[in-house]
Amino acid sequence: MKKVKVVLFGLGAMGSLIASHALKRRGLEVVGAVDIAKEKIGKDIGEVLALDEDTGVVVEDNVDALFRRVEADLAILSTVSYLKPAYKQISKCVSAGINVVSTCEELCYPYRKYPDLSSKIDKLAKKYDVTVLGTGINPGYLMDVLPIMLTAPCIEVHRVKVERVMYSGNRRNSYQKKIGTGLPIEVFKQMIDDNRITGHVGLYESICMIAASLGWNLDEIVELPPDPVVSDKESKTTYTNVKLGHAAGLQSVAYGVKEGEKVITLIFLSHANVNAPHDSVSIDGTPNIRQRIEGGIHGDLGTVAMVLNSIPKVIEARAGLQTMLDISIPSASGPF
Ligand SMILES: NC(=O)c1ccc[n+]([C@@H]2O[C@H](COP(=O)([O-])OP(=O)(O)OC[C@H]3O[C@@H](n4cnc5c(N)ncnc54)[C@H](OP(=O)(O)O)[C@@H]3O)[C@@H](O)[C@H]2O)c1
Repeated sequence: MKKVKVVLFGLGAMGSLIASHALKRRGLEVVGAVDIAKEKIGKDIGEVLALDEDTGVVVEDNVDALFRRVEADLAILSTVSYLKPAYKQISKCVSAGINVVSTCEELCYPYRKYPDLSSKIDKLAKKYDVTVLGTGINPGYLMDVLPIMLTAPCIEVHRVKVERVMYSGNRRNSYQKKIGTGLPIEVFKQMIDDNRITGHVGLYESICMIAASLGWNLDEIVELPPDPVVSDKESKTTYTNVKLGHAAGLQSVAYGVKEGEKVITLIFLSHANVNAPHDSVSIDGTPNIRQRIEGGIHGDLGTVAMVLNSIPKVIEARAGLQTMLDISIPSASGPF
């Protein structure tokens, strides 16, 4: 079987974890790596990932030069959450004839928020006969694809509610940082207001995806500002120590309104003191469906898997901007 030649675009916390698993997959061949972080440029990815040996692939910052030099089938883009900064990176890959699978949250379902940019990406991808997909654990699976799949045996659906309750103390540092772990409450609020921390990104896109799948035309999508979860104890995480009264993490809520009624509600609770993590979906319809994953799913490993398992589906997908609603269902398929 022909290996898929992959470029790793972004070797931060998530990109590095994806990279370490991509290097082990027999169906993939890593042919290049790009990052702008000064401490990584010029180093073998084996060194960047703290592996026992070098891989022969060196991190570079000039993506154009890389694409002129190497032949690649697909770029794994793991750099930013927002579509505007990701657009330039996506265009470079697409214009070089390279498919894209990205963890960029806003790419997962960009049509409502960014109709023009979505159309530009779609046209460019069709022009170069490649596919662009945004995916991950959330958005990309737990709060959109999974509830969508659960509606399949329903005759009708009235409301969808999804809750992700996640222990965050063992997630990657960049994640714990963006949910404000350890910050004094006033600092948390100020940093959210100043966009110095983003909180969770993607509830809006998940709501769009669910609504599109159910054929619901929403009047509006409301995203409430993230609320800090005040720690009721001293907690130690892999990132920091959380003091009593400081932020242990956050809660984010978003909902979609149809004909004046909240029909989709997403609740995302992620902090260092969660002791009963779970992912649950509640569908009111015919029949009602209640589903709960005890323990929840580890977001970082889940994202690695979603990205890698989507690659064969993206390679076989139609050209253009695609979402998880368009590609065939990914599964944990080999060759590993
Ligand atoms: N959909 C999902 O479920 C899901 C799951 C996990 C992560 N994500 C998202 O995926 C993204 C990556 O996550 P992360 O934790 O790895 O973030 P991170 O630690 O900040 O890493 C991003 C890396 O990309 C580099 N970078 C930024 N702009 C670049 C560019 N133009 N060219 C090349 N490299 C560039 C950064 O360099 P500098 O540090 O120098 O800026 C950094 O090394 C985040 O936006 C995250 O929210 C989504």
